[in-house]
Amino acid sequence: MSIRRRLIAAFLAVALAVAAALSVYFLTELEDYSLRKMEERLTSEQMLLSATVSAQMVAAGRSSLTDGQAASLSAVLESVDQTAVSRVRILDSDGVSLVDSANEDVGVGYSETPEVARALVGERSSTQRALPDGRVGISVAGPIVVDGRVTGAVYTSGATFSITTLLREYRTEVAIVAAAFVLVTIVLTETLARWLSRPLQSLAQGAVAFADGDHSVRVRPTGSAEIRALADAFNAMADEVQAALLELREEERRKSRFVSDVSHELRTPLTAIRGAAETLLDGDVPEEDARQFLSTIARESERLTRLANDLITLQRIEGATGELPLSKIDLEVVARQAIESLAPLTEARNVRVEVTGTAEPVLGDRDRLQQVLGNLLDNASRVTPEGGTIAVELATEDGRSVVRVIDEGPGIAEKDAERIFDRFYRAQSSRDRGSGGAGLGLAIVAAIVSSHGGTITAAARPGKGTVFTLKLPTIPKD
Ligand SMILES: Nc1ncnc2c1ncn2[C@@H]1O[C@H](COP(=O)(O)OP(=O)(O)O)[C@@H](O)[C@H]1O
Ligand SMILES: [Mg+2]
Repeated sequence: MSIRRRLIAAFLAVALAVAAALSVYFLTELEDYSLRKMEERLTSEQMLLSATVSAQMVAAGRSSLTDGQAASLSAVLESVDQTAVSRVRILDSDGVSLVDSANEDVGVGYSETPEVARALVGERSSTQRALPDGRVGISVAGPIVVDGRVTGAVYTSGATFSITTLLREYRTEVAIVAAAFVLVTIVLTETLARWLSRPLQSLAQGAVAFADGDHSVRVRPTGSAEIRALADAFNAMADEVQAALLELREEERRKSRFVSDVSHELRTPLTAIRGAAETLLDGDVPEEDARQFLSTIARESERLTRLANDLITLQRIEGATGELPLSKIDLEVVARQAIESLAPLTEARNVRVEVTGTAEPVLGDRDRLQQVLGNLLDNASRVTPEGGTIAVELATEDGRSVVRVIDEGPGIAEKDAERIFDRFYRAQSSRDRGSGGAGLGLAIVAAIVSSHGGTITAAARPGKGTVFTLKLPTIPKD
């Protein structure tokens, strides 16, 4: 059931109930009022007549009412009846009618009628009764007192309309008014319902379009405060869903690029190995060349192993959900250990490594941090010319423990400075040389550093060489 129908039903019910209740109330009041008015008039007529008749009798020195007085009583009646719509009877002390303004019931006894019976013992009272024609009849009876004795009674009666009768009489008109009322209510409610439900419909359209895959739809917050709040909530939800979807797609894209990068990296060493192996299989290879091919196979397999290891490391760091095994780390100690394990490489190339300065300890995973410095030093030693120097500078700056690894290599282009931390990214110069690894070293570095809550940046030095700046949060002193 649509909001429109519900509203119409509810409005009609309320409007009809209110209209009916109000009508009943006011009509009843009206009926009561006219009955009261009628009763007042009958009462005053009765009192006036009783007083007039009693005065006449006193004047005439009579003590009882008889048929013989009918003529003079009629005259009294007429003097009053000219203005009255009521019927008046004058009764003797036995309740028998002596005169009747309707000229019908002369000689009829009314002593059985309750109000007359009461009048004959000196009490005035009134009675209402429903008439056969649907009207309400009211009668008032009061005594005629002469010298403190009841000598007769004045009995007045009248009828007034009854609402029920009126309604029955005017039922066509009532039905027409009621129908008009219902019609007006329906039209008003319909208009109101349209006005209220329009913003909801546009909201529903927006939601349907969104569900159908158009994630850019937003709805305009219009209408009542509640609907505007709903529209705002819908828009906020749409923003979030859209952002989440974009992220998912981006993640998807990264994954597929990663897979194609890995396959690409595997192809080069595998091609070299297969070429060498096939040549050897062909036989007839001079001893000297055979050694060359075998060493290619060994070198390229080693490269594959390194690649596999790097991938696993990266996977472990980036997929790690648990906490790192943290301990208090002295960065100088870690740097010296990294330098020591790289000594075979640096000594072979006659490159010196110098450590200067000090840094406050940090919380970290010793092996991982050593891997970070190892990778940085490994890169630095590859670009630093023979006989050159790599500087490792330690410092504490703004609550961070800092390590700078500075080489004397060719420096780094600004466009490469950020991208070298991407997986498989190698700057062109080093690609040409075909040296180093698959471009995973700095990706591993970046992953470890960020899991420690630190940062790492690369920048060319004004003179020559590159500086890598590693910053880790210093353990706060208490
Ligand atoms: N000290 C450095 N000086 C200049 N370029 C560097 C230096 N260290 C790294 N790079 C650049 O960053 C790239 C990515 O380094 P890395 O992730 O360690 O991969 P890989 O060593 O396997 O090439 C390198 O190929 C190189 O181009
Ligand atoms: Mg490297």
